[in-house]
Amino acid sequence: MISPKKTNGDPPGLSPQLRRVEHVLRSSTGISFQSGNWTALRDAVQARRRALSGLGMAEYVDLLSSSAAEMDELISLVTVDETYFMRERRHFTALAGKVLPSILRRHAEAGSAHPTIRLVSCGCATGEEPYSLALTLLLSGLLNRARFQILALDIDASVLEKARTATYTRNSFRQPDSDGLLAPFFSHHGGLAQLSPRVRRMVTFEKANLLDSDSIVSHVLGADVIFLRNVLIYFDEYAIRRVFRNLARVMSPSGYLFLGSTELARWKASGMTLVDLGGVRVLRPRPPGSHHPAKPSRSNSTACAPRQACARPAIHHGPSTPRVSRALPTPGPGQPVRPTPAPPPPHQAGKQHGDQVAGLLAQARAQADTGEDQLALSICDEILRLDNLNTEAYLTRALIAFKAGRYRDSLKELRRVLYCDKAHFVGRLYMALCYREMGMDSRADAEMTAAVKLARKAQATNPGCEINGIPATYVLGLQGKGPAAKEDPL
Ligand SMILES: C[S@@+](CC[C@H](N)C(=O)[O-])C[C@H]1O[C@@H](n2cnc3c(N)ncnc32)[C@H](O)[C@@H]1O
Repeated sequence: MISPKKTNGDPPGLSPQLRRVEHVLRSSTGISFQSGNWTALRDAVQARRRALSGLGMAEYVDLLSSSAAEMDELISLVTVDETYFMRERRHFTALAGKVLPSILRRHAEAGSAHPTIRLVSCGCATGEEPYSLALTLLLSGLLNRARFQILALDIDASVLEKARTATYTRNSFRQPDSDGLLAPFFSHHGGLAQLSPRVRRMVTFEKANLLDSDSIVSHVLGADVIFLRNVLIYFDEYAIRRVFRNLARVMSPSGYLFLGSTELARWKASGMTLVDLGGVRVLRPRPPGSHHPAKPSRSNSTACAPRQACARPAIHHGPSTPRVSRALPTPGPGQPVRPTPAPPPPHQAGKQHGDQVAGLLAQARAQADTGEDQLALSICDEILRLDNLNTEAYLTRALIAFKAGRYRDSLKELRRVLYCDKAHFVGRLYMALCYREMGMDSRADAEMTAAVKLARKAQATNPGCEINGIPATYVLGLQGKGPAAKEDPL
């Protein structure tokens, strides 16, 4: 593999086309040669052009820009897959001795006896890192205290293929196994070490680009522990921030992010908090509400009672501005997302599923409330994949669309809300608001009447009830206020 190591300036004869290749590659993967080894990039491109029957440089740039397959080919030539078992052993020691016990303690305090704990290796190369996580779990004695899922991601399909075979040369064992603890997990054939099936089964490998927000949402959402080591060192500034931002937004709010020691110097770009675990420094998401440099300003907020509603007192002049978050359950401490290889017993499965959905809803709510609409919508998609009749997910989507002034889309989602729960008086209320905004006053009045009727029924059977922070009594108070009412509630 070729390493974009630092050199003294550009090589002689650096062509504008090679610069374009670098730009296309950097935009797609984050890997930068700006201060690196241009010769290595040039060699890789030449190798690809030769493999493509001597394709011209200009044609190659066009091909790279338009073909995902060619991008994959070039990526596998330029990425650095340098790795070995138990690299920076102290990280694994801290994981077993401090991080996992603390996560388990938190779950126990929250009453979750057998939680699911998710570990993700980002930029896993040929697998030594995620397998080291698995070995650490096996050796820690904690395996029976929780269900552990280890997901390993890399952009380079060819390294993932090698990782799945789990066959290694001596090069992968540069960290001495002085106490011989790892040896029982390997068998040896013809100079190669084969990892035991038991360890291999603990890790799932998937191709993913850390710069791709959607991919990160679906893979990393709710992760309790992330290893992101020796990946960002090849990235440019923009890509580093983007990866940090992607991870910080989707990992568990009480999760841990391990960086390689060189990358740790860049921790401030993460917007997270640096925590010292007795000599091992890790990053943790900042508590909600604390300053986050990557966060959009409050003016982007998806606080979801409509700005328009203030100007439309006839429909909504509520006591406070309801936020997306109001109706959503409190997040569970761990929020596993991905399907698991071995399903838990049925009595646990239901609870875990519920915890998982509750955690995701809390994440969607938090993202929507800070104006991260796209991310919130992706999380809603994830929730609906798990539970396609989830009223809160549809409501969140409806409120996001409403806030953006997309009333037709909002109505579509609100119909789904009412399909899931026909007594949903807030769904009806927002339908009325949508129709009002669309200038369809008679439809708005009809929906408003229906909302009041539902609210009355809800109040009668469950006094003081509310949905999404809007009490039934508030909706009842709107009774009789027609579209012509123009008084400003403020
Ligand atoms: C040097 S290896 C690090 C291996 C392991 N994390 C360790 O520290 O030993 C870097 C890996 O990051 C992967 N990588 C580079 N850019 C990536 C991206 N945008 N998304 C996902 N993986 C990426 C490369 O393919 C390579 O396998």
